[in-house]
Amino acid sequence: FKIPEIHNEPMKSYPPGSEDRANLKAALNELKSSAPFEIPVYVNGEEIRTGQIVEQRIPSDHKTVLAKYHEADSSIVEKAIKGALAVKPIWETYPFSDRSAIFLKAADLAAGKYRYKLLAATMLGQGKNTWQAEIDSAAELIDFWRFNCKYAAEIYQQQPPKNAPGVWNRVEYRPLEGFVYAISPFNFTAIGGNLPSAPALMGNVILWKPSPNAALSNWIIMEILREAGLPDGVIQFIPGPAQEITDQILKSPDFASLHFTGSTFVFKKLWKEIGNNIDIYKSYPRIVGETGGKNFHVIHESASVKNAVNQTIRGAFEYQGQKCSACSRVYVPDSLWDNFRENLLSELSKIKVGPMDGYIEWAKSDADSQIIAGGTYDDSKGYFVNPTVIVTKNPKSRTMCEEIFGYKASEYEQILDLANETSPYALTGSIKLRHASGNFYINDKSTGAIVGQQPFGGSRSSGTNDKAGSPALLYRFTSMRTIKENF
Ligand code: SER
Repeated sequence: FKIPEIHNEPMKSYPPGSEDRANLKAALNELKSSAPFEIPVYVNGEEIRTGQIVEQRIPSDHKTVLAKYHEADSSIVEKAIKGALAVKPIWETYPFSDRSAIFLKAADLAAGKYRYKLLAATMLGQGKNTWQAEIDSAAELIDFWRFNCKYAAEIYQQQPPKNAPGVWNRVEYRPLEGFVYAISPFNFTAIGGNLPSAPALMGNVILWKPSPNAALSNWIIMEILREAGLPDGVIQFIPGPAQEITDQILKSPDFASLHFTGSTFVFKKLWKEIGNNIDIYKSYPRIVGETGGKNFHVIHESASVKNAVNQTIRGAFEYQGQKCSACSRVYVPDSLWDNFRENLLSELSKIKVGPMDGYIEWAKSDADSQIIAGGTYDDSKGYFVNPTVIVTKNPKSRTMCEEIFGYKASEYEQILDLANETSPYALTGSIKLRHASGNFYINDKSTGAIVGQQPFGGSRSSGTNDKAGSPALLYRFTSMRTIKENF
C-alpha cells in the first residue's frame, strides 16, 4: 500500500474582495448568529447530553457565549473506557490502508468543506486573527493528518536488515495494550486534532479531553473525523472537569499512554500521579508531553537590526505571544542596543490592541527592571494586554526565567551561556547567526514550525521531545513485536 504523494497544504491569504474572504466572513457571521452552539459528549458514536453545562466565551468579547458544552461524568468516563476497549480488537486489525484513508479524507474535508468553519471557530473561540487561524486550523491540522500517514507507512516498512541462514525475522508494529488518554490545549486547534489522531492512526483507541477554551473548534474536528469514517468508539470525546476525569482515567489498569500538551506544572503533576498508580497498570504507560517554553532570540553583532526587530516582534507577539514557542527573552549586544531599542519601540507602537498579569505588576516594583513599552491593559470588553517589553540588568530576573523579555549584555559568548543556562525550559531558540532547545532556528524567529519540514518539540522542562510532525511521535504509540522463525 502506497500513500499518495504528500505536500504541505497551500495557505490561503484572504485578500479583500476575494471569494475566500467572503466565505470566511459568511462562516464568521453564521457562527456568531447561531451561537451559543451546544456540544455533546461523544462516546461510542452516541451524542450524550448530560445537562452539566460549561460555557466557552469569546475572549475578545467575553460577554458573548460561543458554545455550551456538556461535561462527562464518572459513569460516562467508565462507559468511554469500556467502549474504547471493546472496539480496540476491531480497530487494530483494520488494514493500515483503511486507517490512513480515514485521516487522509479528514484532511481533505478540513481543506475544503470545513475550512472556513474551522477558521471561524478558531478565530472567535481562541482569539486568533485570520492569518494565525489559517496557519493553525487549516495548514497545520491538515499537514498533521497527511504527513502522519506518510510517516506511518514508512515505519510499517522498517524490517530487521539481517536474516541468518534458516531464519526468518520480522517485526510488527502493534498498538499499545490499553487506551491512550489525550489532553489537548486551547492555543492550537491543530494540536487538538493531532493528539488523539496520531495514536489512532497507529491502531490505538483514545479518550480525548479537549480544552474548555477550544471546545467548539475541537468538536468540529470530531465531526470531521466522524464524517471521514472513523469507527465509533475509537476516539471518545469527553470534555469535562479536568481533575475528576483525569483522576478516574489514571486509575484504570488499561491506561497505556498519556499524550499531553499543556503546562509544565500540570504535566509534572500528572507524571507523579501516574508514578503513584504504577502498580495498577497492566503496562508501563508511555508518557508523551509538550509543555512550556522560555524561548530566546540571540542577536549577533552582524545582524540586520531591522530584521532582528521584525523577527522578534513576530516571535513574541503573533497570536499575542500565546504559543509555547513564543520568544520571551531577547539578548542584544551593546553595540546594537540603542538602534534595536528604538526600532523595537517604533514597530511595537504600530501593533493594534486592546489587559495584563502579575509579571508586569512585579516588574513595575523591581529595581532592576524597566518597562519600556506596554504594561497596560483593558478588560472591559475582551481580555487585551498591550505588547510589553521589560529591560532588566539581572539575567536571573523572574522575567528572564519564568516569562517575558529584554536583556543587554556585552560579551557574545556570555550571552550564549546565559541563553542556555538561565531557564529550566528548552523548547525553541533562535539566533541571528549554537545551544539548547528542541527547535533551534538560525536567522529566523522562534515560532512557526511547519509539519513535514521542522519536526517540533522541546527537551528539559519543555517536554519529552517526541517531535510532533515526525515519525518519532508515532513510534511512541506503537509496541513492537519481534518474530523469529526457524525453517
Ligand atoms: N508548532 C508551533 C510553533 O512552532 C507551536 O506549537 O510555533
